[in-house]
Amino acid sequence: MPRKTAEPESRSADKHRGSPDDANPGGKRSAAAFVPTTTSLRTLSAAAHECRGCDLYKAATQVVFGAGPKTARVMFVGEQPGDQEDREGAPFVGPAGALLDKALVDAGIPRDEVYVTNAVKHFKWEPRGKRRIHKKPNQLEINACRPWLDAEIDVVKPQVIVCLGATAAQALLGRSFKVTQNRGRFVKSALAPYVTATVHPSSLLRAPDDETRRAETRNFVEDLKKIAAVLTASARPRAA
Ligand code: URA
Repeated sequence: MPRKTAEPESRSADKHRGSPDDANPGGKRSAAAFVPTTTSLRTLSAAAHECRGCDLYKAATQVVFGAGPKTARVMFVGEQPGDQEDREGAPFVGPAGALLDKALVDAGIPRDEVYVTNAVKHFKWEPRGKRRIHKKPNQLEINACRPWLDAEIDVVKPQVIVCLGATAAQALLGRSFKVTQNRGRFVKSALAPYVTATVHPSSLLRAPDDETRRAETRNFVEDLKKIAAVLTASARPRAA
């Protein structure tokens, strides 16, 4: 498939994908009413700062929208921003992001081909002493945030979507999807030509010892190499 080129960005931020009632249809929470109909990532990101589609915005510092070029051919989807991402307002800028960046280099995936985002756009946490401890988002929060992810996929139109960890995989591939059994395989999905899942890089950071971490990191890079191969096979040949 030919590499995408940048498209002109629409300015139709005033048109939204849902009505204000969509924020609470039948008691369910949803971001739909806050998501503008646009082809601009900047417009989407600005609108996300106003999102009240669920209650997570209340305890978070700010929304953490996806980052990367609109022309990216690969979209990595994590769970939710961590403590550092919440403070900086950008995804994958903490320890898990550093690990992902190194694995991308080792796998040969150019950074300018990559868009990173999360299934949930606000940091969910609970206090433990002075620390803010990551708390897993629940199904209601994942569902409420889904319109943002759908909008990002619509705009970027990635060739490959990579779910990082169970939360992203189950959000995009169904609740029965098991990352441990299916990691590194491409699954049929209407979301993109190639959709796959692997472990979340933060699981590597939690490995019980160095040897396990090294082995798990090698497996992670092997999964990413399969994505690199798809990108290489489908890259448009450069002019001589
Ligand atoms: N973990 C995630 O899932 N996303 C981030 O942005 C950072 C850590």
